[in-house]
Amino acid sequence: MAGVALKLSAPWRFVKLRSSLVRFSTDPSLKLHTTASPMMATVDQFEQAKNKLSTLKNDPGNEAKLKIYALFKQDEARQQYCDLIGSLLTAEGGTSVAAKPAGSGTTYETLLVTTEDDITTIKLNRPAKKNAITTEMYNDIIAALEQAAKDDSVITVFTGAGDFYCSGNDLSNFTKIPEGGVDEMARRGGDLLREYVKAYIDFPKPLVAVVNGPAVGISVTVLGLFDLVYATDRATFHTPFSQLGQSAEGCSSYTFPKIMGSAKASEMLLFNKKLTAAQACDLRLVTEVFPDSSFQSEVWSRLKAYAKLPPNSLALSKQLIRSMEKDRLHAVNDAEVERLMERWTSDECFNAVMSFFQAKAKL
Ligand code: COA
Repeated sequence: MAGVALKLSAPWRFVKLRSSLVRFSTDPSLKLHTTASPMMATVDQFEQAKNKLSTLKNDPGNEAKLKIYALFKQDEARQQYCDLIGSLLTAEGGTSVAAKPAGSGTTYETLLVTTEDDITTIKLNRPAKKNAITTEMYNDIIAALEQAAKDDSVITVFTGAGDFYCSGNDLSNFTKIPEGGVDEMARRGGDLLREYVKAYIDFPKPLVAVVNGPAVGISVTVLGLFDLVYATDRATFHTPFSQLGQSAEGCSSYTFPKIMGSAKASEMLLFNKKLTAAQACDLRLVTEVFPDSSFQSEVWSRLKAYAKLPPNSLALSKQLIRSMEKDRLHAVNDAEVERLMERWTSDECFNAVMSFFQAKAKL
């Protein structure tokens, strides 16, 4: 991580300093001293390097640019911090920072999975990043859906922690280039996306989205594969694919035109139109909208009542409905993944992702 590290005794906390992540004491009596070695860039040097980047005459190429912009992100350092504390706690025989699920033995770093009142809830739990989905989270969600498919619950609910439902794909996924380069990154990403969407297509029980706030990208596109979508009136629905040099996924190139008509689907999927909850409900992407103040209580009392219905009848009816177009959905998923793998290696996509991190770094 570029930047400067301030060496301090505990107690300390993380703060942001000019796009760097530093440990900062909460105790004013502690003396600050930097660990900067001659090999380590100071904050000023880092700022200078950032400014000089735009003066490069020749394009350094996509891979070099991705490496450069990966240095802006603080996500990995935070994750490593959490992992380290978690492993230290585990080594001492204490509990890890991951959530303890109610109904199963599996824990996840960034998901809360609980089973209560015959409802298994999969909650994205990364509110500081607006529940953006990392590679690890895609794998965890697939595992949580597989587990929910087999457990005793009647209904499965998908929701988010904090003020956002989900901000879609974590764009820093694009900055983790494996040894095989961008083609390999795209291939791995494609395989993961295919499996992720497949888990929704094949899910055998009623699946309900409790959209607790704004939703972006893949968290919106897969909504066409849910059986019910309940939204707070604070929610918005945004699929900025062309803005990001990408293309539609989650079977939305098929489900959205079918649900809302091709002209309205194009406004969302091609032209990035963000819908309010009321508009999404009018277009039948959302089942019902609730006032934010009563959203949780109204939705959960309704879901608890639904979960008392005969489970086999619910599951078999859902499977019957899905069976009418399961093959088509798998074919759509394959086609969308193919197109996206090509998009992910394009200059349009690289430049858009880099613009996102560059804009963040300037704040
Ligand atoms: N990928 C990576 N990081 C993301 C993210 C995403 N999809 N969405 C949010 N974040 C991060 C931000 O970088 C920020 O990190 P920081 O605190 O380290 O700077 C943090 O989450 C909070 O987001 P912020 O942008 O400060 O909140 P906001 O309320 O101003 O805006 C969004 C929220 C979601 C509108 C905005 O972050 C955004 O546009 N994100 C990108 C969404 C996107 O394009 N997703 C892919 C769709 S295909």
